[in-house]
Parts: sequence; structure tokens; C-alpha cells
Amino acid sequence: MMQQEIKNDLILRTLRGEATERTPVWMMRQAGRYLPEYIQLREKYSFFERCQNPELACEITLQPVDIVGVDAAILFSDILVVPQAMGLEVQLVEKLGPLLPQPIKGPNDLQRVRIPEVNETLNYVFEAIKLIKKELNGRVPLIGFAGAPWTLLCYMVQGKGSKTFDEAKAFCYQQPETAHALLQMITDTTIAYLKGQVAAGADVLQVFDSWGGLLGKSDFEEFSLRYIRQIVAALKESVPVIVFAKGAWGSLAEMAATGAAGLGIDWCIEPQVARNLAGESITLQGNFDPAKLLAPIPVIEKDTKAMLRAFGNSRHIANLGHGILPNVPVDHAKAFVNTVKEYTFSDL
Ligand code: CP3
Repeated sequence: MMQQEIKNDLILRTLRGEATERTPVWMMRQAGRYLPEYIQLREKYSFFERCQNPELACEITLQPVDIVGVDAAILFSDILVVPQAMGLEVQLVEKLGPLLPQPIKGPNDLQRVRIPEVNETLNYVFEAIKLIKKELNGRVPLIGFAGAPWTLLCYMVQGKGSKTFDEAKAFCYQQPETAHALLQMITDTTIAYLKGQVAAGADVLQVFDSWGGLLGKSDFEEFSLRYIRQIVAALKESVPVIVFAKGAWGSLAEMAATGAAGLGIDWCIEPQVARNLAGESITLQGNFDPAKLLAPIPVIEKDTKAMLRAFGNSRHIANLGHGILPNVPVDHAKAFVNTVKEYTFSDL
């Protein structure tokens, strides 16, 4: 594919550690339910229809770029398309969230999952990426993504969302061999899937380990980081990779050593502490409390500036510390994005 010149390449330059005129900004889950334009499409098509139809996925991906003015697009899809491609049924149930009616509970269940040919099972994602790149026409970079193997195992074993993912953890601690076999299958699938996203045109990749913080440090190493490391190693020569392991800041140094270009952090760790742990030669991404977008706009503006000051003027991508909440007014999301865009380092 012909390399397209990207006009707003702030995020790419920040990930390389180059100085930029201002801090770039995007929001995790920026394509989603806080946007009335998204809700409209949601009334007409089911969630997986929206993911599987490249025109719809493209339209939803571009909404926050056009409406909120973020510095990157992130592919509209979901981390759960991978378990689906591996052979598990995945439903998205109104108010409940993801539901996998036949979760993995033991070694026999591994017979029901496979490492799929991603060019067949996930080709619709690659088609969406090609279309998005064409429609973006180089305005901003496109971020592709996948769930980290541990976070995907959480859903594949627990069968639904959970605050503790206790059944998934028990599975790892009681049946470590089966857990590792499953994690390796997810890892192999994810590497092929992310390579396909890059071939289709993704400029950056993010690995979402939303539940990494549920594991203690040595378990995080054994059941999560070991596999994230394989993924980063397989992709980092072709595009910058951002690792976001929510709550797992006790392993920031180890995550920085994977060769990732960026690390996502949540709002429970101070930027300076994260910087000390991660070292100087990696870009940090975050870490505004998503719930603070529900505060009055002047509070959002004040605290966004405080965040920018705390990270300083290099190697920082402004973002939320987790996904945007559905009840955030669009004006509040814009206040966050515009405060970052209008802030210049001479204000520091
Ligand atoms: O960031 C983006 O805008 C891109 C799209 C994206 C979605 N999901 C769309 C989506 C991304 C990057 C994800 C990642 C994802 N999916 C994660 C990791 C990030 C995180 O927030 O922790 C996880 C854990 C999932 C699994 C998942 N998908 C859950 C728990 C839910 C239901 C709860 C919820 O937040 O709605 C989904 C559904 C989902 N994925 C929606 C969207 C826009 C809402 C579905 C709807 O519109 O009805």
C-alpha cells in the first residue's frame, strides 16, 4: 500500500519522542454512546452489525474526528471480535454488556477454540481500516487495537463483565497449563490480527489490558505481560505500539522494557511517579479521570491544564485514564480536547 502523508502527525512525532508545538489528544472510547450521531446508528443496527459493516465502522470512527476534533482516529470495533473469531459466541446485551454463553471452564473447552485464519474471520476489520484510511485522507493517524490476552481470557472464562473476574483468576490459579495454552492461542491470533491491521493501514496500535490491574505483580508477569511482550516484539518494528494496562502501574518499568513506544496510565497514579517508574525514553498517555468530564466546564479546563503541567512538555499524549462515559455531554468532551489544543508550552 502506498504510504499516505499524514498532515496532523503530532501523535506519531510524540511517540518517537520528538518535540512538538503542543500536546496531542484523543480519548479512549471516543467513538461511542456520548455522541448523538452514534446513538442514531445504534437504533438501526446491532452492535456487531456496526462492527462488521465497513461503511458503518468507518462512519462511526470518523465521528469524533469531525465532531470533537481529536488528533487521532481509533478504529471502531471491539476487543471481543477476537474471541468471536476464535470460535466462541459473543453477545452484547443491553445494560448487561458482553455475554459469552459458553465460556471456557477446563481443558476440554479448548477444543471449541481455534487460532483462526484472520484474513477470513476478521477480514471485515481490514476492509474497514482501508476505507477509514481513504476517508481520513491523511487528516490524522489511525489507531488500530486489540485486547491483551489476559483481558480477553477474563471474558472468555468469566463469560461476562465483572468487577473482580474471580472465576477467570481461579481458572489461572487452578489450571495454569490450560490457562497458558489459551493465552498462547489468543496471543498467536492477536499477532496475526494486528499484523493484518498494519497491512491494511493502521498507523499506531494500542493493546488494551483493561483488567491487568486485577493481578498482583508476579501474576501480572505470568498471565499478562509475558504475552503482551510477544505482541509488542512482533509489531514494534512496523508501527509504534501503546500498551494500556489499567491499574498495573507496579509494572510500568517492565512494560517500558517491552519496547512499546507508549504506555497508557490511569488517574490513580501521578504523572511524575509514572515517569520515574517508566523512565525518560517512553511516551506516556493519559490520565484524566473520565468521571471528571461530568464536572462543570471550568473545572474540566482547570484540571486539564493541571494535568498538562504535571506531564510537562514532551513525551505526553493527553487522554483519559479509561474510556469516556456514555453520559458525558459532548460540550464537556470538547472542553477537554480544546483545552489541550489551546495550551502552549510557553504557558507552563
Ligand atoms: O475507543 C473507541 O472509540 C473504539 C472502539 C472500542 C469499543 N470497545 C467500542 C464499543 C474500543 C477500543 C473498545 C475496547 C473494549 N471493549 C475494551 C477495552 C477498553 C476498556 O474500556 O476497558 C473492553 C474491556 C471492551 C469490552 C466491551 N465492549 C464492554 C465491557 C462493552 C459494554 C460496556 C460498554 O462500555 O458499553 C462493550 C461494548 C462496546 N464497545 C460499546 C462500544 C461503543 C458500547 C456498545 C453499544 O453501543 O451498545
